[in-house]
Amino acid sequence: MNRLVTFYGTSIGKKLVVAITGLIMYGFIIGHMLGNLKAFGGATALDQYAEMLREIGAQFLGNTTFLWIARVTLIGAVVLHVVTIIQLVQRNRAGQPTRKIRRRNASTLAAKWMAISGTLILVFIVIHLAQFTFGWIDIHQTGTEGFVYGAVYSNIWGAFNVWWVALFYIAMMAMVCMHVYHGAWSMCQTLGIDAPDRNNLIRMSSAGLAIVLFVGFSAVPLAMLTNAVPSPEESLKTESVTNEQSDEAERTLSGDLG
Ligand code: HEM
Repeated sequence: MNRLVTFYGTSIGKKLVVAITGLIMYGFIIGHMLGNLKAFGGATALDQYAEMLREIGAQFLGNTTFLWIARVTLIGAVVLHVVTIIQLVQRNRAGQPTRKIRRRNASTLAAKWMAISGTLILVFIVIHLAQFTFGWIDIHQTGTEGFVYGAVYSNIWGAFNVWWVALFYIAMMAMVCMHVYHGAWSMCQTLGIDAPDRNNLIRMSSAGLAIVLFVGFSAVPLAMLTNAVPSPEESLKTESVTNEQSDEAERTLSGDLG
């Protein structure tokens, strides 16, 4: 334990912590975006996916225990990531008293933007959990069902049919993705893997990741707001018709064979 604390005190230890916690957060956000896209497969596909996440490891750990381990890991990663970056920035500043003013202005501006957007994202996450995980904030289109635990498709459908909720999410996704873009780029600088011949590639990959995340995340509120995907009722109706048709086809087939 002491060795770990000593290692964390070194710059290389802190950089490693920034990289590992950053990767954990990138892993979560990419996974979450891909999971949300299940909405395009219909209500059952999304709800069953969410149920599956809740039930991973249930036979060994009990229901939702794995989810809680993942949640605690994620919260730990966020806290450790932010604290360690602040420490590294302070250390870098203390070690470089003669930097050019222009560079300092640019980096101060970027650091300010990261601090402001990071804080807003934390506020967004609190609102987001209150809305879709706990149902404490239940804003939904009149005529749609309110928050029901586990009914993920219906919960987000009702919310995203309120135009300003959908727009709020899309605006927040722009903010998250700009934060991710700059975060990926500055993480490479913190880790010292930036170099003049590589910087274009690093910038382009960071921008590519941010754009994919923005499009992937925004697609769901936009599709629900514009009714490009069916309502929960229509989605379930279509699924039961499809199931009946495939049962019918199976019966016909087994009758023919018999
Ligand atoms: C349009 C974008 C998004 C949609 C539609 C969305 C939807 C959801 C839904 C429906 C849940 C609850 C799932 C369940 O109860 O099974 C959830 C949970 C969560 N979301 Fe999002 N989300 C979006 C973007 C984000 C972003 C950008 C972040 C992070 C910056 C985020 C962080 C979380 C977290 C931390 C949870 C809680 C996971 C848990 O502990 O169960 N979400 N999201």
